[in-house]
Amino acid sequence: MESIQNIKQRFEIIGNDPKLNRAVEKAIQVAPTDISVLVTGESGVGKESIPKIIHSLSHRKHGKYIAVNCGAIPEGTIDSELFGHEKGSFTGATGARDGYFQVADGGTIFLDEVGELPLTTQVRLLRVLENGEFIKVGSSQVQKTNVRIVAATNVNMFDAIEKGKFREDLYYRLSTVEIGLPPLRERKDDIHLLFRKFASDFAHKYKMPAIKLADEAIKYLLNYRWSGNIRQLRNAAEQISVLETKREISLATLMSYLPQEGSNLPSVIKDKKNDSDFSTERDILYKVLFDMKSDLNDLKKLTLELMKNGVSKVQDINPNLIKKIYGQQEDTETAFEEEPRINVIPNRTENLQEEFDEEEDDSNYLFAETVEEEEVLKLEQKEIELIKNSLERYK
Ligand SMILES: Nc1ncnc2c1ncn2[C@@H]1O[C@H](COP(=O)(O)OP(=O)(O)OP(=O)(O)O)[C@@H](O)[C@H]1O
Ligand SMILES: [Mg+2]
Repeated sequence: MESIQNIKQRFEIIGNDPKLNRAVEKAIQVAPTDISVLVTGESGVGKESIPKIIHSLSHRKHGKYIAVNCGAIPEGTIDSELFGHEKGSFTGATGARDGYFQVADGGTIFLDEVGELPLTTQVRLLRVLENGEFIKVGSSQVQKTNVRIVAATNVNMFDAIEKGKFREDLYYRLSTVEIGLPPLRERKDDIHLLFRKFASDFAHKYKMPAIKLADEAIKYLLNYRWSGNIRQLRNAAEQISVLETKREISLATLMSYLPQEGSNLPSVIKDKKNDSDFSTERDILYKVLFDMKSDLNDLKKLTLELMKNGVSKVQDINPNLIKKIYGQQEDTETAFEEEPRINVIPNRTENLQEEFDEEEDDSNYLFAETVEEEEVLKLEQKEIELIKNSLERYK
């Protein structure tokens, strides 16, 4: 078995962190088997080297290695890309096409950003993992393939499973062995080493002396958050190498290339918490709005009934609707106190009834406007009640 150091050298993996070494060791151990592997770790930690190590140390090394970025392929074409399609199976399918799973038969497929796969594709993938079977898009013929799958993700798969975005059975099937790569901030001993390596690479590439950090700058480098991990470190080293005229880099200069915590500068990694908070807030607002719309429609129906049948009858025949609109605690008697005013416009009532009968859905809007025009219902007041009811419900 090749040593960890040899492999790191071969794949240009810099660093000596125990967690990094363990990840490389796991890749070496698992390579000769056909076990599916899930590589996990934040964005920019170096996940892409692991499937390459696995493939090149496996008996499949002379077979094909195909890396697929699942997050970059549109949902409409991903099944066809992965599993192929028959001629005429969809608009634009002028010829049949083999998918990656057929092309990589005998080799390895690296499914990067696997958490982004649509649920329908996940079902197909599960089948391939279970018995090597797949069906081309637009075909009914089952085909066989012998592919080793290595997947990677930088999202928390348990979150994705909980949100119903990723199948739990597929997760367990993919992650028979999980190889986790540590974030750069947990590899403090490697940070300066990596920076020096990148500084020297860029000095070579741009034919200039390598940049060198002042002591204070090194301290800052080691304690920085590095949300974009090695990719961010590499980019910073490249920018400084190219843009700075002095080769000795001070703390202030280094800081000017790194977004400060809490700054408005974009960070490579999205703040997942804020993201989800925002979406929750938006979801609640949508719910409140939809609820208001539904209440408004109920209210319109009720108003129409009132116009037709008068207050007492409406209360008898629509108890549920009344309860739904005004809530359980509300006194429906009080809520209807103002309603008899509607009866003062009988002609309008007939017209409205016709409109409502003719085109129930579309006329709702028309109806709402008419009501507002006549100032029959005190809409502002009703809106406040509706908003209150909706907010109560989603408190
Ligand atoms: N240990 C390392 N030594 C040297 N370079 C590294 C190391 N790890 C990662 N890199 C470099 O950092 C960059 C980012 O690595 P990579 O593309 O593998 O990240 P990733 O984990 O796949 O991120 P993402 O989830 O965003 O795809 C690449 O340019 C890679 O060569
Ligand atoms: Mg990647």
